[in-house]
Amino acid sequence: MNVGIDRINFYTPEFYLDLKDLAEARSVDPNKYLLGLMQKQMSVAPADQDSVTLAANAAKRVVDGIDKDDVGLIIFATESSIDQSKSGSLYLQELLKLSNSARSFEIKEACYGGTAALMSACDYVRTHPNKKALITASDIARYGLNTPGEVTQGAGAVAMIISKDPNIAAISQDNEVYSEQIMDFWRPNYQKNAIANGHYSQEKYLEFFKTVFEEYINKNKSDFAALLFHVPYSKLAYKAFKIACEKIDPSTREMLKKRFDLSIDLNQKVGNIYTASIYLSLISLIIQDPSLKKGDKLGLFSYGSGAVGDFFSIELTDRFKKSIDKKTIVEQIKRRKKLSIQEYEQFFKEQTEIEAKEISIEQKTNLKDFRFLGIKKDQRQ
Ligand code: HMG
Repeated sequence: MNVGIDRINFYTPEFYLDLKDLAEARSVDPNKYLLGLMQKQMSVAPADQDSVTLAANAAKRVVDGIDKDDVGLIIFATESSIDQSKSGSLYLQELLKLSNSARSFEIKEACYGGTAALMSACDYVRTHPNKKALITASDIARYGLNTPGEVTQGAGAVAMIISKDPNIAAISQDNEVYSEQIMDFWRPNYQKNAIANGHYSQEKYLEFFKTVFEEYINKNKSDFAALLFHVPYSKLAYKAFKIACEKIDPSTREMLKKRFDLSIDLNQKVGNIYTASIYLSLISLIIQDPSLKKGDKLGLFSYGSGAVGDFFSIELTDRFKKSIDKKTIVEQIKRRKKLSIQEYEQFFKEQTEIEAKEISIEQKTNLKDFRFLGIKKDQRQ
C-alpha cells in the first residue's frame, strides 16, 4: 500500500524584510547575505500571527472538501509553541472544525519535528488505511536583533494531509537516521529567542548529512530525480548538495543542480521556517519544475538541531502537479508588504513582548485569515 502526501499547502505572513536593507542597517556587506548565505528576503510575523494561526491558515485549504470524519490524527509540529502543556493541534481542531474523535497532539524535535510528524502520520495510516492524518509544521524563527542568526530568521507553515494512495508523493520506508545529544542550537524555556552555536551547528549539519547519506547509498540505489534539504539558509543546503554530488552518477549532476536551485527559491524569500523548511523546498520545486514526472524519486535530508538527521526518499505520484495550488502560493509571496528596518524591529519587539495576561493585539493581518486577537483571563483568543 502506498502511503504519503495527498495534499500540501503553505502559508506565510503578509510582511517581509529585504536582506539588503538588513545588511545596510547592520553595516554588513550585502553580499555576505546574498552570496555568502544565499538568502534574499525573510518573512516577518506581525503580533497577530502565532504558530497556531500560521498552521491554521496553511491547513484550511488542505482540509477543504475532505470528509472531516476521515481525519483520525492531527499532529502539530513546532518549536514556537504557545503553551507548555496544551497542544496547538487542539486549537487547529476547533478552528478547522475537525472531528473530535481524532487523536490530537503536538510534537517537537527542533526542525526535525515536521518529519517526525510525517513519519508518525504515515505509520498511523499504514495501520488505519481508511483514515487520514493532518500534520502541520509551523514556526517563527527568532534569534534576536543584532545577532549573527538574525539574517536566518523567517516565519511560515506547511500543512499536509497524509493518506493511502496519495495524490502527491508516496513516502518510502528507507530512512537512514542518526541522532545524538549535542548543543548546536536550542531554546531553553526562559528564552524567547533561540541560542545557536552557529559555526558548530553548520559543521554538525554537514557531518550528520554525510553519515546518513553514505549509509543510504550503501544500501539503496542513488537514482534521484532531485535532492531536497532542510534549509536553515540556502548556502548550507548547497554545501550538503555538493557533498552528495561527489557520491552519485556525474551524468545527473547538471539536472540535480537545476532542480536544487528551484527547490531553494521560496526558502530564499521566506527564510528559515524550522519544521516546515524542507517541505517548503518540496513545494518550491514541484510548482516551478514542469519537467518532473510521476515515478520520480526525490531524496530528502531532514535535520533538527539537538540533533537528528534523517535521509529518506519519496516517489511522486499521479496527480502531484494538479494537487498543489501554485497560483495561491506564488501570489502569497508576491503580495507581501516590504517592511522598513524600523517597522521590522517594531514587529519583532511586539512579537516577543506578548507577556501580559490580558492583552488585545492590534490587527495587521488580512481579515480573511485566522488571526491571534490577544489574551483574556490567561486564554489565547
Ligand atoms: P556568521 O558567522 O556571521 O557568518 O553567521 P560567516 O562569517 O560564517 O559568513 C557566512 C558566509 O558568508 C561564509 O561563507 C563567508 O565566507 C561568506 P562560507 O565560508 O560558509 O561558504 N561571506 C561573504 N560572501 C560574499 N561576500 C562577502 C562575505 N562575507 C562573508 N562580503 C551563521 C552565519 C549561519 C553561523 C549565523 O547566521 C547563525 O548562527 N545562524 C543560525 C544557526 C544556523 O542557521 N545554523 C545552521 C545549521 S543548524 C540547523 O540547520 C538547524 C536550525 O534550523 C534549527 C533547528 O533545527 O530547529 C538552525
